[in-house]
Amino acid sequence: MHSITLWTSLLFLINGYFAMEPIILIHGGAGDIPQNRVKGKLDGVKVAVIAGHKILAQGGSALDAVEAAVLSMEDDENFNAGYGSVLNLRGEVAMEASIMRGEDLNAGAVTLVKDFPHPISIAYKVLTDSPHSFIGGEGAKLFALDKGFTTVPPESLISENAKNALEEFLQHGELGRTEIGMKNEGGVGTVGAVAIDKYGHIAVATSTGGMSGKAVGRIGDTPLIGSGTYADDNIGGVSTTGHGESILKYCLAHSIIKLMENGTDANTATKEAVTGMTNRLKNTAGAITLSKNGDVGIYFSSKRMSWAYIKSNKIFYGIEHNQILEDEYRPS
Ligand code: GLY
Repeated sequence: MHSITLWTSLLFLINGYFAMEPIILIHGGAGDIPQNRVKGKLDGVKVAVIAGHKILAQGGSALDAVEAAVLSMEDDENFNAGYGSVLNLRGEVAMEASIMRGEDLNAGAVTLVKDFPHPISIAYKVLTDSPHSFIGGEGAKLFALDKGFTTVPPESLISENAKNALEEFLQHGELGRTEIGMKNEGGVGTVGAVAIDKYGHIAVATSTGGMSGKAVGRIGDTPLIGSGTYADDNIGGVSTTGHGESILKYCLAHSIIKLMENGTDANTATKEAVTGMTNRLKNTAGAITLSKNGDVGIYFSSKRMSWAYIKSNKIFYGIEHNQILEDEYRPS
């Protein structure tokens, strides 16, 4: 065999031997999810996790995989992100999203996005094409238009469920507590994804409509790096969901990362930080975590949180406490 061919084959073998098993873990929001929304959320997280895993299985990057999973949930009315986002006090959608690359800690985030269906893709563009990390409101719109994104009428993003939830909030809601006790799902369904690709690179994406009845101009945890999203190839990745004001005060995503950096495993770190936040601030949250070795952490202090991940040709998923459902999965 020619020596160049021999070297190429050897490198291919070494690369194959040391390549990580790619994993994607996603959530579809924590909260007091009513029973009539359970099936839609479980179906939705399975579709989204497959969308992300397909990219990883073809050798794609963790960043592209988390974007694809979140895009799928932004298009799905079962989740509070993109189409189906909950409404502010003026009856408008005002969406937020963030994405982070663990290789170099680069991040992109947007907030107060009103007329684009996929805030996560604009956040991704901020990461790749902007000297800044976080752009909001009119600036986010100008940036998105400049990068070729097309607007949609803001009303086209409003679902019946979101209208009902706002109406219910206006009658019975407690400001800032809309994730708790809403019959029509007042603000549960923030979406997020954490992935590790075959090169061991980690990425995280999170997207939300926030909470029903939020003040005009309110910004929550989701676009804040360290609260809603964090990724570091040297440690792991985290996406959070739940009561935004509490998550941002507690820097929940980074709290989990710090625990892992100090030697705590992904599952224990996720449980300790979420429980710590709830004990301290008396509001609920959930988080999903992958360690740099591909260990999974899932925990929520809310009544429910939909989640799913694909590992070793199986989809694992659930929404209740102590529930792990399992389907066979063969990448096509
Ligand atoms: N966690 C979503 C929000 O409160 O905005």
